[in-house]
Amino acid sequence: MEKRTLGKSGLEVSALGLGCMGLSYGYGPATEKQAAITLIRTAFERGVTFFDTAEAYGPYRNEELLGEALGPIRNKVVIATKFGFDFDSQGGQSGMNSRPDQIRKVADAALKRLKTDVIDLFYQHRVDPNVPIEDVAGTVQRLISEGKVRHFGLSEAGAETIRKAHAEQPVAVLQSEYSLWWREPEAEILPLLEELGIGFVPFSPLGKGFLTGAIKADTTFDAKDFRNVVPRFTPEARKANQALVDLLGQIAARKETTPAQVALAWLLAQKPWIVPIPGTTKLHRLEENIGAAAVKLTSGDLGEIDSALAEVTIEGDRYPAHLQARVGR
Ligand SMILES: NC(=O)c1ccc[n+]([C@@H]2O[C@H](COP(=O)([O-])OP(=O)(O)OC[C@H]3O[C@@H](n4cnc5c(N)ncnc54)[C@H](OP(=O)(O)O)[C@@H]3O)[C@@H](O)[C@H]2O)c1
Repeated sequence: MEKRTLGKSGLEVSALGLGCMGLSYGYGPATEKQAAITLIRTAFERGVTFFDTAEAYGPYRNEELLGEALGPIRNKVVIATKFGFDFDSQGGQSGMNSRPDQIRKVADAALKRLKTDVIDLFYQHRVDPNVPIEDVAGTVQRLISEGKVRHFGLSEAGAETIRKAHAEQPVAVLQSEYSLWWREPEAEILPLLEELGIGFVPFSPLGKGFLTGAIKADTTFDAKDFRNVVPRFTPEARKANQALVDLLGQIAARKETTPAQVALAWLLAQKPWIVPIPGTTKLHRLEENIGAAAVKLTSGDLGEIDSALAEVTIEGDRYPAHLQARVGR
């Protein structure tokens, strides 16, 4: 697979990474451990060198899984993880916490779980309104100077926060939601990243599965699946939003590819410093998603997608209100 460099950071990774969250957390029961390890190692064999996890995924279990799966190939891959929450005794998120002592504690614990001596990319998972971003950036800067972390990242941060953080410690990467059904970053964030030379990692690039066409209005999710509380995934919203998937299906058929591949190729076509991280628990979908790196959309295709999208109104918020309040700060 071709490689991309994330902004001016010099961090070089495969054009598509692997989002590992769903193997342990978020979309129903965790994948059986050996199957998850096989999926992660197969991704590497197919050219993926960029693996995304977080303390919060499990919590802890997803980092442990990556530690085991990537151990034998540790020096050939880039591992990204995230800090920024407190957890209750049941493992639920009990609040934000990006205090300097907490960041350092999470870094040390993540290093152990990931079975490594350096975290390639350490993201603040959500901006903590109680801790100045300069203190967060300064803490990660010290971790970098101690050799425990290589690069600093932010997730779902607003423009002002990105600027302030970057002035203290260069931000290598922003990871935020971006896809054919969530294009808000185009307004303010992408121009800012271009100006500052920060790479961009779109999460949920397949619209949490919806853009692939595999989820219909009558699809039911596991009781623990996060999509049960997402307004955009109510049966009514899914029914309304099917128009977008139908459109992707038409373009995919003409290009002799699949809707998932069009969704990923569209992101890759936006900027050369964008690296999407689709997630899957299934080997055949991994192969399909990796295939998107070879799908080239022409400017004619991109123009057609744009004008067709302009005709579609997406129904439903991408987060429930209490989680929406945590993004864009
Ligand atoms: N920074 C943040 O706050 C944040 C938030 C969310 C996610 N993330 C990261 O971003 C990664 C990706 O995001 P995501 O998992 O939310 O969403 P996504 O990659 O847009 O979609 C994942 C979903 O799509 C399904 N899927 C994947 N490939 C498919 C295909 N080819 N055909 C049909 N269905 C397919 C998967 O189901 P199967 O497993 O059944 O294939 C899964 O349910 C995560 O793993 C995580 O690392 C970060």
